[in-house]
Amino acid sequence: MTANTIEINRQRHRFDGRESVWLFGYGSLIFKADFPYLERRPASIEGWVRRFWQGSHDHRGTPDAPGRVVTLIEEAGAVCQGMAYRIAPEVFDHLDVREKNGYLRFMTPMTFADGDQSDGLVYIATPNNAAFLGPADERDIALQIAASHGPSGPNDEYLLRLADALRELADIDPHVFAIERHLRTAD
Ligand code: SIN
Repeated sequence: MTANTIEINRQRHRFDGRESVWLFGYGSLIFKADFPYLERRPASIEGWVRRFWQGSHDHRGTPDAPGRVVTLIEEAGAVCQGMAYRIAPEVFDHLDVREKNGYLRFMTPMTFADGDQSDGLVYIATPNNAAFLGPADERDIALQIAASHGPSGPNDEYLLRLADALRELADIDPHVFAIERHLRTAD
């Protein structure tokens, strides 16, 4: 699949007549809300884990020297914490451009921190997209992140802001925190 998903995403969901739609964010969408929203609530989704397995050609790296950003990987029984935003459907015009490097929108059930449930859309970069990098040793991922930067800034800023945002959500993500530890100690 092409790394540019803008046109594919535009065809994927119809929002006819809807005043608002929930969006679930688990990566930069937690700490960088550069879009208008009507409501913001901590939430989680089941069956997915967060992994720094997606290459970033357009935000935290370049096509020749990709950075690493997070995507979700299916894992039975796992729970991924994040932030849900209730947004007007037209906000997806902006989000589809922001998430264009390999991410597709999927509908998912979400559970809010207070136990309420709703469906929401989530952007996931699946392994068949051209920018997918896949698994690597967490120390090597930290080294790649330390060396990468792109139009949205240094890749380490993405990692450190995500780790801080997860601490604020009281989410212990062993993968993210291990990479953060390697990066901070440069070991
Ligand atoms: C997300 O944050 O939900 C998607 C991945 C990213 O933009 O970092």
